[in-house]
Amino acid sequence: MIAPIGCAVIGYGPQHNFGWAHCAWIDATPDLKLVAVCDIDPERTAAAREDFAQIRTYNAPADLWRDEEVELVSIVTPHFTHCPLTLEAFAAGKHVVVEKAMCLNVAEATAMIEAGKRAGRMLAVHHNRRHDGNFRRIREIVYSGVLGDVFHIELAAGGYFEPQNGWYREKATSGGGFYFWGPHAVDWVLDLVPHRIVGVNGFFHKLVWHSMSNEDQTQAIIRFENGTVADITWSTIAAVTKPLWRILGTKGGILDTGVGGNVGYQEQISGPPGGSLTLVTYGEKGRKEEKVPYLDSDWHNYWQDVADHLLRGGPVPVSGEFGRRVIGVLEAAERSSASGQTEPVPYE
Ligand SMILES: NC(=O)c1ccc[n+]([C@@H]2O[C@H](COP(=O)([O-])OP(=O)(O)OC[C@H]3O[C@@H](n4cnc5c(N)ncnc54)[C@H](O)[C@@H]3O)[C@@H](O)[C@H]2O)c1
Repeated sequence: MIAPIGCAVIGYGPQHNFGWAHCAWIDATPDLKLVAVCDIDPERTAAAREDFAQIRTYNAPADLWRDEEVELVSIVTPHFTHCPLTLEAFAAGKHVVVEKAMCLNVAEATAMIEAGKRAGRMLAVHHNRRHDGNFRRIREIVYSGVLGDVFHIELAAGGYFEPQNGWYREKATSGGGFYFWGPHAVDWVLDLVPHRIVGVNGFFHKLVWHSMSNEDQTQAIIRFENGTVADITWSTIAAVTKPLWRILGTKGGILDTGVGGNVGYQEQISGPPGGSLTLVTYGEKGRKEEKVPYLDSDWHNYWQDVADHLLRGGPVPVSGEFGRRVIGVLEAAERSSASGQTEPVPYE
């Protein structure tokens, strides 16, 4: 391929300004060129034209597929459309970046991976929150070895509120309560723990918000082959909340509220360090507690990695196979909640 690579964003939604964010990241990457936006809602394509004067717009993906300048599409639409749009994009010969949640289930993920291979095109999952400043610092500390062997990770988010946001509320369109924030959390954990997954225990609750079909609280407890346990909870009925991260290792631990971990998100292509985490270590001199500032958030680097893959043969930033492991954990948690048993994950 030759730079700059022609790119289009599919889905220019109002709820999180996220089609805009994809356009802004692409626009800021010299090896990529934003040429088009597609959204089935004409009001949204009008908004895109106001934000990015150089683009052409489409209100049907079928018209976008015929645009020969578009070599890469970024899919930023509701979760239930991710698999069908990806399959259509590959059939049209485009490379694909697909937002989290990659899709609704492992069968869809496998269909997407295989279609990409058949077409000889890239499939990358937009797990861009690996680039959040707090996670970048956590990853650096964990891989430095200063915590010793990490054996326990807790991640929790949410609160007590009835979700209001349209298709995100319904299982058929979103995948369920776990599919909004859960993919970020599972991706973070799988990036920190490079071991085989032995099994997943899930605990789902549907107790309070009966006007939507999504679960009110979802929890996945992942057991890894090396003994590490990760406990991930998303709740909309948690009257009392926990810090975002608690990590325990044999020589220390991390406590992180996450507040300020992604300053400027959805407004800027990168963000300044906006907070700090608590690092506790035990060494020869006993207990040491320190505040460690977050790193900056370098979300735009995800897109340079995409370009480096397509132009220079670098690794795919987050492959379809990695994304499928994330979906496998979410799916196994739901199965386990129903069966009451520990469930295995395919592609462990
Ligand atoms: N990585 C992150 O941090 C992050 C943050 C927010 C949202 N997201 C993800 O972005 C995706 C979109 O979420 P959102 O909040 O922007 O949703 P949204 O509802 O605001 O926007 C979705 C847009 O897609 C359009 N659309 C629906 N079906 C379409 C189709 N078949 N073809 C073309 N356009 C179509 C809709 O008209 C709408 O404008 C989801 O996967 C969500 O999880 C990721």
